[in-house]
Amino acid sequence: MGAVRWPRESEQFNVIRRKVAEMSGRDITDVRVVVSPYRICPLGAHIDHQGGIVSAMTIDKGILLGFVPSDDSQVLLQSGQFQGEVKFSVDEEPIPGKAAKQNGSNHLKGSFSTQEECSWGNYARGALYALKKRGNNIKQGIIGYICGAEGLDSSGLSSSAAVGVAYLLAFESANDLIVSPTENIEYDRLIENEYLGLKNGILDQSAILLSSYGCLTCMNCKTKEHNLIRGPELNSHTSNENNSPFKILLAFSGLKQNLISNPGYNSRVAECREAAKILLQACGNEELEPILSNVEPEVYKEHKCKLDPNLARRAEHYFSENNRVLKGLEAWACGNLDEFGKLISASGLSSIQNYESGCEPLIQLYKILLEAPGVYGARFSGAGFRGCCIAFVEAERASDASSYIKMQYSQVQPELAKQMDEDGLVLVCDAGDCARVI
Ligand code: GLA
Repeated sequence: MGAVRWPRESEQFNVIRRKVAEMSGRDITDVRVVVSPYRICPLGAHIDHQGGIVSAMTIDKGILLGFVPSDDSQVLLQSGQFQGEVKFSVDEEPIPGKAAKQNGSNHLKGSFSTQEECSWGNYARGALYALKKRGNNIKQGIIGYICGAEGLDSSGLSSSAAVGVAYLLAFESANDLIVSPTENIEYDRLIENEYLGLKNGILDQSAILLSSYGCLTCMNCKTKEHNLIRGPELNSHTSNENNSPFKILLAFSGLKQNLISNPGYNSRVAECREAAKILLQACGNEELEPILSNVEPEVYKEHKCKLDPNLARRAEHYFSENNRVLKGLEAWACGNLDEFGKLISASGLSSIQNYESGCEPLIQLYKILLEAPGVYGARFSGAGFRGCCIAFVEAERASDASSYIKMQYSQVQPELAKQMDEDGLVLVCDAGDCARVI
């Protein structure tokens, strides 16, 4: 399989190293860089928080965090996207709940009031909170510069988990801690669920920490068991440089909003739990945690009539999505991208009809993607309340698909499309690798 070129060959990689050398007065060769890729979830949307089985992979774009250990307890951070400087000491005890999940555009460079607290630093504080909560001894701060891919924050590619993981890996490296991916999955859960208050599952950080180029990551969010499934046989007739038969296409809606300021995410989680509670009561298992993975499919079939229509739709999404994931893993392992793609599109439809997580522009974009040349399948990325849609597309038809999508979306959403750089409306990516420190 072809090598993943990002980030070593990117200009950004060297800019970050120079920047940290300047900030710290150290030599550029002392600067370490955390590579924390964005993730996609072809199948398994919105079932991670219910203990479902999900599939994921990373792309060849993401967060880079250049850093050096500060040689004392001080943390000093700057960002390529956000204004202001974040300063704190690792001796502080970060208090959960005070921070809101912030990665939105309101604090982008140019619109940030220097009087405001630099809320983008909450992820670094959250990482410190998680590491300390699990008993790690953090004495060493970092001097760092963090940068995301231009225009990709709050796009449903999980930039927030990528940022959380980046800070965890930097603190661990600076403090000579050896931490397994499984432990880091839990630490990132503490950042998101406890420190920032989002009731999400472990899909995002599992994908970022476990993925391997050329494989689909499968995660059982209840048992925490995972495996990597090798992808379709590479076709030697394809002409793209990575020699992969497919590309991952990202089509942006122009809508950005972080998940905490949109109450949709947490309220859907609460609805799933309510449905689980009713179904568990119906079969005399009310002592179990009310999550849908604790409900047997037969119990769901027998008692779904007891759910009100909204709750019934959420449960239907959960059970049907779990089945799609299982079928999708098989299709992927057999190299059947047509079948894999159909399941992705069916998952997208269930998100619209059963989970009701889309919004008009994203639904329009989803439909356009389904019609685009060479597309195997498409769905919303991330929570689906804003951001982008992803598609798996035949490698050789990716550029035709991009042109088609740009043209069609500009017609149905001229205002949103105009806000985006024409080149930024659709991005064609390759699969990526797991997070690591270079
Ligand atoms: C967000 C959450 C994840 C997952 C997805 C939807 O990215 O952070 O935990 O629920 O939405 O699949």
